[in-house]
Amino acid sequence: MRQRSGDYFSFAVGKPGRGLRSVFLSWVVLLGLILPALAGAQPNRALIHFDDQTRVFRIDAADMSYVLGINENKQVQTLYWGKRLSAGDTFAAPHSDPGLSSFDSSINTTRLDFVAWGGGLYVEPDLKVTFPDGNRDLVLQYVSHTIEGDHLTILLKDISRDVYVRLEYQADAGTGMLRRSAQVQNRTSAPLVVEQIASATWNLPRGSDYRLRYLTGRWAGEWNLHEQLIQPGKTILESRRGSTGEQNNPWFAIDQNGSNDQDHGDVWFGALGWSGSWQISIEQDEAQQIRVTGGPNTFDFGYRLAPGEHLQSPDFYGGYSHEGIGGASRLLHRFEFSSIVPHATNPKLRPVLYNSWEATEFRVDEAGQEALAEKAASIGVERFVVDDGWFGQRSSDHAGLGDWYVNPVKFPHGLKPLIDKVHSLGMDFGLWVEPEMVNPDSDLYRKHPDWVLNFTGRPRSEGRNQLMLNLARPDVREYVFQFLDKLLNENDIAFLKWDYNRNWSEPGWPAVAPEDQKRVYVDYVHNLYSILAQLRAKHPRVEIESCSGGGSRVDLGVMRYADQVWPSDNTDAFDRLLIQDGFTYAYAPGVMMAWVTDSPSWVNQRTLSLEYRFLSSMQGSLGIGANLNNWKPGDFATAKKMVEQYKQIREIVQRGSLYRLISPQNGSEHSVTESVSNDQDSAVIFAFLHSSQMLYPFPRIYFRGLKPDTMYAFPPPCHPLAPIAGFHSFAKVTLGQIQESREESSPRCRCNPACSPSTRKSAICPPSTPSAYFSDDDFTGAHSVISHLGEPHHAHRHLAGWSWPGDFVTLAALHAWSEKISE
Ligand code: DGJ
Repeated sequence: MRQRSGDYFSFAVGKPGRGLRSVFLSWVVLLGLILPALAGAQPNRALIHFDDQTRVFRIDAADMSYVLGINENKQVQTLYWGKRLSAGDTFAAPHSDPGLSSFDSSINTTRLDFVAWGGGLYVEPDLKVTFPDGNRDLVLQYVSHTIEGDHLTILLKDISRDVYVRLEYQADAGTGMLRRSAQVQNRTSAPLVVEQIASATWNLPRGSDYRLRYLTGRWAGEWNLHEQLIQPGKTILESRRGSTGEQNNPWFAIDQNGSNDQDHGDVWFGALGWSGSWQISIEQDEAQQIRVTGGPNTFDFGYRLAPGEHLQSPDFYGGYSHEGIGGASRLLHRFEFSSIVPHATNPKLRPVLYNSWEATEFRVDEAGQEALAEKAASIGVERFVVDDGWFGQRSSDHAGLGDWYVNPVKFPHGLKPLIDKVHSLGMDFGLWVEPEMVNPDSDLYRKHPDWVLNFTGRPRSEGRNQLMLNLARPDVREYVFQFLDKLLNENDIAFLKWDYNRNWSEPGWPAVAPEDQKRVYVDYVHNLYSILAQLRAKHPRVEIESCSGGGSRVDLGVMRYADQVWPSDNTDAFDRLLIQDGFTYAYAPGVMMAWVTDSPSWVNQRTLSLEYRFLSSMQGSLGIGANLNNWKPGDFATAKKMVEQYKQIREIVQRGSLYRLISPQNGSEHSVTESVSNDQDSAVIFAFLHSSQMLYPFPRIYFRGLKPDTMYAFPPPCHPLAPIAGFHSFAKVTLGQIQESREESSPRCRCNPACSPSTRKSAICPPSTPSAYFSDDDFTGAHSVISHLGEPHHAHRHLAGWSWPGDFVTLAALHAWSEKISE
């Protein structure tokens, strides 16, 4: 990390001497800012305290407190969830709510952390069971608890039967995120059926004016952000598809009083770590209380628990931010890298990859891939990935899935020559697999037709000409693990792109007893996770991407095994602005793969410059998926420069704090994001104009997340015309160097006459063409920007601003890179 910072600071500083001085002074100033901060900092661990007298648990972590207690009915009652309380704040012993009337008894109006269906419950239960004698009543009471470090466990038991529930709470010291789960244990002497098991219920503070944000989508149109006022009644976000799905993503965020401010206001949010069918219910009950209950989907659910067995729910993560929805996503991003993804807390930065899919589709062979690999290496790609088509009799999506041998016609000597070639070019090698699927036209299906999900004697519905293997079956699990293990043993593979291109149908499992068949919803996902875990343990160097025909399997469950995810098959750089914006509400740019592909785009025939496509993808983890065989020398030169630039900024983009300065949502013509380095010394700003109408000037941009009382400078301008891609604008300069660097860099600016102010209405750059923008005037105004930044009372908020000159519209790219000035 430090080494990277060193590289970063030495990059593009005008003169070595000054560069070193700049680095040195930056660190001096930085330390000066950090040390006092540390002195007053909260302890870097989560605190859990139990008061014997009041029977109140208090969990404090980062800037969040969560308080729960055992009331007079021995129920676990939520008392508080929100901004961290002060040490002196205390809570009286909890008492259940008396209820509203004879129609809504206490159990419905008391804010319970976890409640079973029984005793006249009408709100969403966390647990529902059926006993063999037909009894379906379950009333849970506190039995005991343990506290170990950041971990609280509470044991509950039914009032008469030996059904126990173990609730878990784990607090993350860095972010205040709480991980919650539940385990139901059958300690009776007879089987019972669990018909619903949620991980947790989150109770928000009593009140009204709450607003829900959630994500929806469809194939190639994922990550749409929706907002709605929470009204009496219930909203269910769910997937019944067997996997996470893109129709809804298992994430929610709720704020109060409807302020659209990205950085201020209370936000409660959460995400479910489950890659099977799931549901999150957001309910405003009759007492105007908001409950959020999440876990595996209850539809068609029924898990038979034999005596002595238990069923563990997935993890449901919840967080609180008082820094608005932007603060909520930044907390989640940090949490994903500190607690979720493989190698947390210090996962590797994503390498720049090339993927062959859009270039060759199924037409992969040794010579063709080697030619692409050479071209990819020439622009600085670090990982070369062969996509679909390399195995079995796979020449289209009609055949081959399930037969994981290397196709001998396409690769007569196996994959080794290609892998060696890729290595010799300085890249590592990645391979596409779709392990959970089978084509009916495959040797595997001919041999094991019983291995797929099916109901006996019923049709087997295909999706993309393929069927779902039933991964819940031990033999299928073993087959999938073995073929992947063999592939990784026999080939030097650094990366697997794990795809999944359809959803479930006919989810039958005829090989087991009828009463056990619905276990498939749980056992399938557990086996998926166990294969991934076993592979990672055995091949620790191998990285994995979760892809599902796009962004259909992105969740905090699979992300524990996946270094990166694929948000969408829609690779149009303009559509991606919206897709990526929605994605980052829940997931970090550092896991979000974004490819530069061909123009016009296959998605919508939109034509975009190569620079625009790069800039869009550089907001996440950069990949290239274009057909390099069609590129001209100029394209390679442009791409090489942009890949180089990306490598310089990727740590900030992938690990920094994301601020949405102007959201592309709601038909906005603009999109501006800012990524601030964790030390707040540097920031990268991406700004896009798209679908411009009527030549309105670009709105003023206010930077956020920078240090108060600190001066930052911009890179030099390229005057008088806007540059095509603004390469030079990555150059970082200190205040004292602005003139000098400006002079140095100006000759290097490639200005695009077609996009000059005088020709901006030309056919080459019509204003309606989506385009990244650059304004040289923004940078000629650098001094006034700096003086804005210096104003202490603007700290944290509107630290800087500039006006878009009314008479200036260009169609080139802007990258502003600000650096803290050390004086
Ligand atoms: C769907 C993926 O999202 C694509 O990137 C590609 O890998 C195809 N599957 C291959 O079949």
